[in-house]
Order: sequence, then structure tokens, then C-alpha cells
Amino acid sequence: MRDEDILSFVSRISSGTGTTKVVIRTSENEKDLVEKEIPLKEKQHPFEDYDPDDRVSEVSGNGSDNALGIITTGLEPLEITDTGARITGYITTKCRRDVRLGTYVIVPYGDEDLFARIWKLQYVQEYAVDDATEIHSRRMLHFNDTDEVDYKFLACLDPICILYEQKTNGGVSLARRMGDRIPRPNTPILPVTEKAKIQTGLNIPGEGIFMGHLSVGGELVKTQAVPPTVPYYLRNDYSMGDPLIFRHILVCGSTGTGKTFLTKNILRQFMSESNRYRLRGSEEKKNPCLVIMDPQDEYSQLFEDNPELTREDDFNFRAEKVNFGACKNTRTFVAKVEGEAYTGRSRAEQIEFTIPFEMVRSNSWLIAPVGMTELQYLGVDLLLEDYFKRSGKHTYSGFMDFIEDDQTRDKYAVDSGKIHESSYDGIVRRVKNRALARVFDQPARPITEILGQIFRPGQVSVFPTEYITSPRIRDLITLTLMSTIVDNKLSTAGETAVKETPIILGLDEAHRYLASASGEHSRRLISKFADAARQGRKEGLGLFLITQDPQDIDETVFKQINTRIILNLSNDAAIGAMKVRKEFEKRIPYLKKGQMIVQSPDNSDMVEIIGLSRCVVRHI
Ligand SMILES: Nc1ncnc2c1ncn2[C@@H]1O[C@H](COP(=O)(O)OP(=O)(O)O)[C@@H](O)[C@H]1O
Ligand SMILES: [Mg+2]
Repeated sequence: MRDEDILSFVSRISSGTGTTKVVIRTSENEKDLVEKEIPLKEKQHPFEDYDPDDRVSEVSGNGSDNALGIITTGLEPLEITDTGARITGYITTKCRRDVRLGTYVIVPYGDEDLFARIWKLQYVQEYAVDDATEIHSRRMLHFNDTDEVDYKFLACLDPICILYEQKTNGGVSLARRMGDRIPRPNTPILPVTEKAKIQTGLNIPGEGIFMGHLSVGGELVKTQAVPPTVPYYLRNDYSMGDPLIFRHILVCGSTGTGKTFLTKNILRQFMSESNRYRLRGSEEKKNPCLVIMDPQDEYSQLFEDNPELTREDDFNFRAEKVNFGACKNTRTFVAKVEGEAYTGRSRAEQIEFTIPFEMVRSNSWLIAPVGMTELQYLGVDLLLEDYFKRSGKHTYSGFMDFIEDDQTRDKYAVDSGKIHESSYDGIVRRVKNRALARVFDQPARPITEILGQIFRPGQVSVFPTEYITSPRIRDLITLTLMSTIVDNKLSTAGETAVKETPIILGLDEAHRYLASASGEHSRRLISKFADAARQGRKEGLGLFLITQDPQDIDETVFKQINTRIILNLSNDAAIGAMKVRKEFEKRIPYLKKGQMIVQSPDNSDMVEIIGLSRCVVRHI
């Protein structure tokens, strides 16, 4: 028999008139087709009629009206072990479209609830039919009369925790513990409609630094509260150790995925009058100073309101304790560079400064470019040491004259052999950079003299670098700031302005400065930076790093970062470096603008959130 013949052998057509037409082909001959009307009565069965649109309505009054389905044991046993669980639910036809991988659900025990996440979705046949055949596929392509109800739709649940009510001094509060019991068969599977349950279930603090709203697969999780969204906060108090900003934050995402937009929204949250931190156990609490290295001139706009915000935004922000609006205490610090002028993108006050060459005395790597060998590096140190021993004013050009002088070369490379000849020439070649002559000791106040103006509690200090054409100078300015903060924070005799102010350092393009590249230069800076990161809590230093290449960030620094915010990344190496759980890792390349995965083990479970779609301050 040919396929076509088989296909036409039996075809069932619902007539909708109370009868079912069955076309039976009795022989190979078309004429022998017999059409027989079978009255519906004939296929009556002893069970009550089932109307797929009428489900669950009978169960009411126990919160099951909006149930997604029930817990089943028919196909697989329900079980929970030390290493995992097997909990399967049947999802009713009405709810199947709404259920997604990752959806959070509640299964009530009566006295407490199981809080779980859907990790597997499955269709299983209601009646055994081999549907993987040519005949069947052709028939279905031609006329698909199957219905949702012809299949079982199963959802496998991954228990996250058990939610229970706990008596506290002030009354009853919701608490969570490890999933240690299984739900009874036939219990309803409910969507999570209470904000408190989902926050406790995922261990999200009820207040703190606002970062975004909880979501699953790009859809906001909605509850019955007003507003219905579930805010995600980062712990910012001393209730369980120190505020998490002092354990550092990393924002990563490919270019154009919204890193700057998000960073502005998060950093703004730290700038409120009531946000204060303690330093080294002292009782006095101070507002933090936000220091931002700004390679694209985007942050001085923290000084201005976002004119696009509506009354509704206003209401929602207030309802969810989101800080918004201009930080009037924003200053732009402009490095004076010969031949370059900064125009500025906001009306924030601009203060010019210069980097005194004197700073190189203790930070030789400021003039030593990346990639110098260890020998060259030691050579530079030696030359600088001797140069600074000389009397008179120390300048970059003075130092260049010193090392380019034949007498000096003879003294170090030929006579004493302190520096190998080829090393010496290499040093001169690498340290000599005409751009550097335009940055040191310019007619402006040395940065070392204005530390008190830069590091002020409650102030946003922005360091734009975009106006400078030479990348070498841009890096020099950023490195100077980084080392000024780190050195003073780490040294017991550090400048008070730095030492006694809680500082949040925002570092865009962090991979440029913290790459694990070879070379003494980066090694020294990085080990200092890692030290500072380790002592962040004690010294009141919070790092807020931003990068598109997280895989390039040095391991020792990377390990110190407790909160990692992952926006869309398309590079496999970058995704791999984040080391997130498989189920979240798969989502990274599909994250839309504003959507992110937050990995902050000391704050909450790993979750997906969506940042605000508007900037809380001006952003172009
Ligand atoms: N959550 C968001 N909602 C709406 N627009 C956004 C969002 N995040 C970023 N954008 C827009 O996308 C563009 C790129 O964002 P930006 O923060 O500059 O990216 P990055 O710093 O990663 O290169 C900007 O025009 C910004 O306004
Ligand atoms: Mg950016």
C-alpha cells in the first residue's frame, strides 16, 4: 500500500453536529468508500463529560483558582534526596502558554510552602501513538486535529527552598530553609503572587541599593502588589556583615549593551543623604565619595535631572525606594593637557589639575609603558631614584634630558654595567614619549594639593578623559587616580581626605588597567589593587568595575569581586570567565538591553533581572 492510500484510509472529521463522520475505505477502489454516521450516543463512556475550557473551576476557595496544575506521581515517583529531587507537575491546558523554563512557583503544604523553579518542560503522549512516522506527519501537516488535551504537559520542579513563618520579637516573619520534604501528590502548583514570598524564596534583601526588577526569560515577574514588580536590592547595611559595595561590583557586557546606562542608575543609588558608611570600626558614619573614571564623557551628567521622567516614573521610583534626580554635588576634574581642551557635557563645576612629575618618584610605572621587561623596569627605577636625588625642579623633560645624556648612558650602561646596554636603549625608547611632555607639571594646581577637593563625602568626582587624543595620557591619568586612592588607603600615613572618606571608585574599561598581561608594570599595580580590594571593607573602598572583556581581568582582582552583573555577552571566552550556573549561562547571549544576570552569593540566589528602562539622571 502506498502512503497516500494509508493516509486516506481512515480520516476522522469532526462534524460539530453531534455526530462523528468516519470515512472507511473498504477496498482499493475509490467507489467503495462508505460514509457512515455514528451517533454520539454510541461512544458514550461511564465518565462525566470533560470540557477542556472548564478546568479547575470546581476547585475554589483554597487559592487554587489560578493554579497552573498539580503535582503528579503517575509517571514518575516523587522523590527528594540529599543530592536532588524529582518533582513533576501536570500543567493544565489553559496555563501551558504562560509556563516557561525558569518560572518560579509555590506548592503549598498547608503549614508551609515549597518554593521552586521550573527546570524542565515536557510533552508526553496521552495515548501511545507512534507519531514519528511519514504517514502521521503528512496527515498532520494536511489536517492537524489534535488538541492540547491529547497530550500531557509536564513541568519538572527544582526545589529552591521551603518558606515558613517564623515567630520573631516583632511578630511573624517569613523565613526559608533547605528543601527537605516533598509535596503531596495532587497538590496545586501556584504562581507566586506575593512579593514577600518571592523575595524570601530567592533570598533578596527587602531594601538596599536598587538594581532592577526580577524577571524570567525577559519577562518581569509580576505579583499582586502595587507596583506589581519585584525590586532587586543589593544589601547596603551592616545587618549581616558590611555593605556589599565594599566587596566590589563588576558590570560586564558587550559594547552597546547598556553598561554605562545601568552603571549610572546603580551609582546614583549610593548618593543619598541617608546613605552613610562606617570606617574602620569608627562610630561616625559618612556619605561616600563617588570617583568615576569616565572615558566617554558620560558621567558628569549625574549633575542633571533626566527631563524625560514622567509623573508615573516618579511614583514608581518612590514606591520602590529608587533614588533619582540630579546629584548637585557633582564636580568634573579636568587634567590640563597642553593642546587639548575639555568642553564638558554638563554644567557641573570644572576644576583643573595637573600631575606633578614628582609623583613618578614613588610610582615609576606611571611612565613605564605596559610590556617592559623586568630588567628594563629595574633600570627605570634606578634611573628615577638617581634623578630624584638631584637638586632642583624635577620634570619629565628634565628626566628625559638626564637619561638621553651620553654621560649618563656611559655611567650606567658602559662603565658600571648597572644596566645592560641594550636594556638601557630600550628604556630610553620606551619612556620617551612626546605626549607625556604635555601632561606633567602643566599650569594648574597639582592633584596632590587638591585631594581635599576631590575626595569629599557626598560628592561625585568625575574624571573625563575622552577629550585627550593620546591613549597613553588617558591611561596615565586613570592610573594616577587609581594609585592615589589605593596608596593612600593602604598606607597608615595616607592623606586624611582619602583615608577618612568612604570611596566608591567607578572604573570604566577596567580590563585596560587590570589585565593580567605580563610585565612588571601591570603586576605591581595589580597586586596593589588586589590588596586594596581585600581591605576594601576595612578601609571603606568599593570598586565598581565595568568591562566588555571580563576574561582579561586579573584573577586575583576578579576573585575579590562579590557581585557580578552580566549583561549580554557574545564572546565565549567572556561568558566562560563568569562561571555562572549552566541554566543561566545559556541565557547570556540572548539577554536583551537592560536584562541581566546577577551573581551575588552573599546577597541572594542567582537571578535574572531587568534594569530600569529610564535613566534616573540625564543620559544621552
Ligand atoms: N535599559 C535600557 N533601556 C533603554 N535603553 C537603554 C538601556 N540600556 C541602554 N540603553 C541605551 O542603549 C545605548 C547603549 O547604552 P550604553 O550604556 O552606552 O552601552 P555600553 O556602555 O554598554 O556601551 C544608549 O543609547 C542607551 O541609552
Ligand atoms: Mg559605555
